[in-house]
Amino acid sequence: MNQAFLHKFLASEHQYPIGDTEIDKLFELRFSTNLTLIKDLFFSLYPEESHSIWFKRLLLELPVLFKERPTPLKLQDIQRLKQGNWYLSEHLIGMQLYVDHFNKDLSGLEKKLGYFEKLGVNFLHLMPITPRPKGENDGGYAVNSYHEVDKRFGTEKDLLRLTEKMRDKNMILMLDFVANHTSNDFPWAKKAMSGDLKYQGYYHIYPDRTIPDAFEKTLPEIFPKTSPGNFTYNQKMQKWVMTVFNQYQWDLNYSNPEVFIEMLGNLLKLVNLGVDVVRLDALAFMWKKLGTQSQNLPEVHALITLFRLCLQVIAPGVVFLAEAIVAPQEITKYFGLGRMKGNECEIAYNATLMALLWDAIATKKTILLNKSLHHLPKKPKETTWINYLRCHDDIGLGFDDHYIHEIGWNPKEHRKFLLDYFCQNIEWSPAKGELFMYNPKTGDGRITGSCASLLGLEKALEQNDKAQISQAIDKIIMMHGIIMSYGGIPFIYAGDEIGTLNDYSYREEADKKEDSRWINRPYHDWETIASLDNGKTPQSKIFFAIQQLIQLRRQNQAFADSNNLVFYDDPNPHVFIYERTSNDSKGVLVICNFDDTPQSVDQISLGSYGETMRSIDLISGKKMTFTNGKLTLRPYQLYWLATV
Ligand code: GLC
Repeated sequence: MNQAFLHKFLASEHQYPIGDTEIDKLFELRFSTNLTLIKDLFFSLYPEESHSIWFKRLLLELPVLFKERPTPLKLQDIQRLKQGNWYLSEHLIGMQLYVDHFNKDLSGLEKKLGYFEKLGVNFLHLMPITPRPKGENDGGYAVNSYHEVDKRFGTEKDLLRLTEKMRDKNMILMLDFVANHTSNDFPWAKKAMSGDLKYQGYYHIYPDRTIPDAFEKTLPEIFPKTSPGNFTYNQKMQKWVMTVFNQYQWDLNYSNPEVFIEMLGNLLKLVNLGVDVVRLDALAFMWKKLGTQSQNLPEVHALITLFRLCLQVIAPGVVFLAEAIVAPQEITKYFGLGRMKGNECEIAYNATLMALLWDAIATKKTILLNKSLHHLPKKPKETTWINYLRCHDDIGLGFDDHYIHEIGWNPKEHRKFLLDYFCQNIEWSPAKGELFMYNPKTGDGRITGSCASLLGLEKALEQNDKAQISQAIDKIIMMHGIIMSYGGIPFIYAGDEIGTLNDYSYREEADKKEDSRWINRPYHDWETIASLDNGKTPQSKIFFAIQQLIQLRRQNQAFADSNNLVFYDDPNPHVFIYERTSNDSKGVLVICNFDDTPQSVDQISLGSYGETMRSIDLISGKKMTFTNGKLTLRPYQLYWLATV
């Protein structure tokens, strides 16, 4: 198909009348600007010979979807287009929460908007609020609909009221688009089960084990303990369905262009509710190919970019977050490479930083952290990270083995040490976490537990050990100080702002007890929050320290992400030092001590931040003093140095 086809299409064939408002004109422009790339990507996935008809259908669909977008959101899109890269701002601070565990439902959440303002949070990730099957449903990640509101959380009206209020307050909303799979209760799955071949073609469904067995040779298992294998036999169809995650989560077949087009419609219905950031759940898995691990395939990148470019035409104010918890070298690829650079996802989870920070906590050394981060490929400008310590999932030890080797450690033993340290297998460890999906055959496992419990607060409180309590608080604050200052958007996991401990109640619930991730999905403790103002309890110390870090971040433009992160090398193996640079000498130097003994760094290596009387710690407000050419840090101390 040549370009002339595209222009003919623009001039005559599509039905949407070219209006003369700015909104419509800009739509036309975006449409024509993206069209060539959309076409190339579409035909790279769906060869032109047999799929022209679907491409035409896609082109006809875009203006229809645009028409359906509510006007206030179209206006916001234009505002954001003009503003550009709004998601890089130092003003953004996120929180992730389960609506029902936070304050019952959507109206309950709305009543707490003031709480976020008090803390300084203005970006919310609500865990799935869409309908899900009864019983096990992977915390809502088994979806029965992409855009309806599950009754337990309220109604669509409640959501629209919430999003409107959030817009008034300049707050950002992120919701999940569980693009890789639907539940087995989803209308398409039900139709497939009733024998409808069209809908069987929406999934990876096979009459016998031939292809499943061939896939199994290379596919890893995601939940080996609770959902071994990657295929599930369906009695009704008497066929095998690909279910990479849980048996009730059916993987969508994106090699069918109709699935892509339908899912684009679902995506737009979701964002039209007032969603600003779409969390693309498990996106690395969206394309399957025999003989591969079916993760991070080049086709996935083409597919996501295709979604991106279509969404950009219709709703340019909305951006994508890549939930790609994969190898460090693979994550940055979701920002787009080559002709897709900057066109794929604007934001990605910084899973590498997260895992490395936990490594530094357990080892009290920053060697692996520094080495791994220094070697990471630079992300493209105009993209950013979500920096986080804990989320609703487990902590995977996704480091590159060769850096562990280079340090002189044995990767297998090192991973075992980390699991032992965090999961209560070492007497002296202050951490209280649990093993997740441990495989005794390979020794592989992941870690669950709340931030505070993993950092020692739970054990210290149990033992009523004042020194350990104080040290756990320092660790919690230092770790939050890192995510607040590292390049990207800091994301607090709801409850961590008051040092919430593990929640063991999941063990009593039939649908949850096999999944220890529920240990770190606690109910929000409003009683504790009501008495925070005394400033004396561990919870209130943590809350006010995090609140202060947020305020400082907001006041400092160096924290906007312009790829202005520079690492400092220091021979001390316990410190982590980086600068957020600025052209006008308004940069900030972050220094942390991961050891439980005092550590020092050379004054001279800190450049202008090491000049007596010129250097000030933003957190304590104190001018810096140096002794014998050294700056000393207390155990788990955090400095944010600026020059005056
Ligand atoms: C993502 C979610 C996780 C879920 C999985 C399958 O990784 O974060 O909670 O289990 O996708 O949907």
